[in-house]
Amino acid sequence: MLFRLYRRLLPFAKPYRGKMVVSSIFNILSNFVGSVNMLALLPIVAIVIGESNTSLGGSVKGGAAWLQKFSNLFIVHGASGAIDQTGSLFRIAIFVLGTYLLKNIFQYASGYMMAVVESGMSRSLRDAVFEKLSTLSLDYYYDRKSGQLLSRLTNDVNSVNSTLSSSIMTLIGQPVQFAVFLTGMIIINVKMTIISLFIAALSLYLVRLFRTTIKTMAHRLQHLQGDILSVAQEMISGVKVVKSFGMERYEVRRFKTETEKHYNGTRRIARVRLLTSPLNEMLAVLGFIGILWFGGGEVFAGHMTGAFLIYFLVALIQLMQPVRNISDLNTRLYEGSAAAENLFAILDAEPSVKPGVEKASRIIEQPIVFDDVSFHYQSVTENAVDHLDLEIYPNEVLALVGPSGAGKTTLVDLLVRFYDPTSGRIMLGGRDIRDYEFESLRALFGIVTQDTLLFHDTILNNIAYGNRDASTQMIFEAAKAANAHNFILQMPDGYDTLAGDRGVRLSGGQRQRIAIARALLKDPPILIFDEATSALDTESEMLVQEAIQNLLHHRTAVVIAHRLSTIQQADRIAVMDKGRIVEMGSHNELLSQKDGLYHRLYTIQSRAGTESVATI
Ligand SMILES: Nc1ncnc2c1ncn2[C@@H]1O[C@H](COP(=O)(O)OP(=O)(O)OP(=O)(O)O)[C@@H](O)[C@H]1O
Ligand SMILES: [Mg+2]
Repeated sequence: MLFRLYRRLLPFAKPYRGKMVVSSIFNILSNFVGSVNMLALLPIVAIVIGESNTSLGGSVKGGAAWLQKFSNLFIVHGASGAIDQTGSLFRIAIFVLGTYLLKNIFQYASGYMMAVVESGMSRSLRDAVFEKLSTLSLDYYYDRKSGQLLSRLTNDVNSVNSTLSSSIMTLIGQPVQFAVFLTGMIIINVKMTIISLFIAALSLYLVRLFRTTIKTMAHRLQHLQGDILSVAQEMISGVKVVKSFGMERYEVRRFKTETEKHYNGTRRIARVRLLTSPLNEMLAVLGFIGILWFGGGEVFAGHMTGAFLIYFLVALIQLMQPVRNISDLNTRLYEGSAAAENLFAILDAEPSVKPGVEKASRIIEQPIVFDDVSFHYQSVTENAVDHLDLEIYPNEVLALVGPSGAGKTTLVDLLVRFYDPTSGRIMLGGRDIRDYEFESLRALFGIVTQDTLLFHDTILNNIAYGNRDASTQMIFEAAKAANAHNFILQMPDGYDTLAGDRGVRLSGGQRQRIAIARALLKDPPILIFDEATSALDTESEMLVQEAIQNLLHHRTAVVIAHRLSTIQQADRIAVMDKGRIVEMGSHNELLSQKDGLYHRLYTIQSRAGTESVATI
């Protein structure tokens, strides 16, 4: 698990390899110095219990003799040969101070370097995920909650990197500590070391066992908590039904059954959880007593100094910490790798709509042809566009009308390749649109929809979005033609007013006119209006209509409208229903078909009075 994580993330760490190595070296040094300084205990104890230079004579050999020599270095003898206690303590103090100072300097250097690596990797990873997201097709976004995707970019990236850096720190640093203490223990007494390790392993195993049990129990408890919530939620949101059927008591009973289960669950967990610590401690104490018993015997027999015994016991306690840290790493890694899986899923995703290689020409001389096009959204089996044939001629204004859900938006989404047809093909300039690369293909289209997004930027830049090198003059012209110039000038900072989430609020009609200005500035050969005039008051609608007329000159246009009054001068009107074109013709032609869908829609709208807007 760990290995896989590292290998996948390695490319993101590449620029920081040097820093990582340096950090690791400092990490090793810091842990080494930080554990070696415990050796100061040897001379301290020796002085305090007055063991002084009573080395055990010839009985200590090898490493132990070396340790003894090291300890003796700190012991200063007065002129009479007795121990100069102040002098010795001073030496020890210098040693302790020096080693701690060094340890902390190393620790700082290592931690800082690792922090740099971590933030750098976060940045690379975040950039890569965002870049990947930008290449993915619309369906990817629609299939997921936006909160989920945002959480990938924030929480998951953070989690992966902090897991990674802390695991590197732990895996490199802790074994050093472990090795230093273990070496000390082995030098002092091999037998005692083996017994200690055995007990340590046993206690570790025990902790693990308890922990997995607790984890499964906690998991179950979480479910129980969910059950409680869902009963409560049902009653709260369905309070009217509950009361009208007189079911209050029944609901309370249901709730109590769930809380009872939860109560039992918490009790069971507490039983195990609270047992862990005492059991562990008793085991440790038993081990401690065993070592003390055995070691004490060695001391009394003159095989070992008291200082060695004390150091051994302290080293044993210290030894457990790195072991525990490494074993705790598992839990963190578990979280980190779950986050990493989420990120890899994005990085491995393939866009469902892939670009071709041809450049699309801006000159549209041939009709756009929908050739037996069908399409269904991934989540449903029914076709949103169903075996549809349609030709859109150069420079004509084609209106697309039909009931809600007929597939109008889907049809134009297919044309700009937000999706690809499930079967059939769409031809443009004599080629399948799948042959074209995205940039030149999408440059052909200007799209104005009801839900125009304004970015958090000035109005000026919002109009120039996608056309960053337009001159201010051109932008003004576009805004004027879109009937937007006047209302923009009335805003607090005119064209420099900030729009978007944290900027000024624009009305639906104003936003649409900004969108029209945007499209005008882009000057595309093909225009698409989707619902451009729905939900507007009469005056806004007139202004928008006027703006649209300005935009239509010498262009091919597809205009989707709910209000039939607004599209009467379209060259042709296509009536869509259930994914198919069911009628086609001019307004008058369609209206003369008394049993047609267009006639029906038109009559309903006239009767409902929605047709209050005079045609422009
Ligand atoms: N992202 C989506 N996922 C699944 N189904 C969808 C999705 N978008 C639209 N649909 C379904 O596809 C069908 C056609 O939808 P579409 O939005 O093209 O209709 P429309 O003609 O534009 O309707 P309206 O006039 O209300 O805008 C509908 O049945 C709709 O429920
Ligand atoms: Mg629609």
